[in-house]
Amino acid sequence: MGEDLQKILITEEQIDSRLAELAAQIDKDYEGKDILVVGVLKGAVMVMADLVRKIHTPLTMDWMAVSSYGSGTKSSGVVRILKDLETDLEGRHVLIVEDIIDSGLTLSWLKSNLESRGPASVQIATLLRKPEAATVDIHVEYVGFDIANEFVVGYGLDYAEKYRNLPFIGTLAPHVYGG
Ligand code: PRP
Ligand code: MN
Ligand code: MG
Repeated sequence: MGEDLQKILITEEQIDSRLAELAAQIDKDYEGKDILVVGVLKGAVMVMADLVRKIHTPLTMDWMAVSSYGSGTKSSGVVRILKDLETDLEGRHVLIVEDIIDSGLTLSWLKSNLESRGPASVQIATLLRKPEAATVDIHVEYVGFDIANEFVVGYGLDYAEKYRNLPFIGTLAPHVYGG
């Protein structure tokens, strides 16, 4: 796996301390409320697991699976629901947790989808965001790191379903995706 990586972009330690900062902010902002944390499968599994363990506000978790990428490196722009929530959103404070906002297509679609179900609020937390790649403008309350427009893997993020288990965020060597 080592020769597939170009470099480590964000270390385990950097992720851990940034998530602690986001969790502290979330605790402040949601004081006195219950949060329904919605993790977006599969990429958000790691950030979800680590972030909720740092949040002290009462919360429940649910999962949604959507996919816009298939096996390539480019967003198709077509968002499909592969698994829907099991929770009624009526009156709930929803916090969507994502690993990355790339074009923004997935989240802008998902946010309006969840907003149409009658929640009290919908906010977004993402570990990574690529400002240069954004094709739609969405307001994001909690951002871990803004990164350059390069293909990243690890800590939940895949290339053709691989590398999700890396404990850090890295960039892929161009030869891996035919560059
Ligand atoms: C990736 C990533 C985000 C989305 C971001 O998911 O986890 O959910 O793409 O891209 P966008 O901002 O351009 O829409 P993917 O569709 O690859 O599914 P996965 O989480 O199962 O890997
Ligand atoms: Mn995803
Ligand atoms: Mg993916």
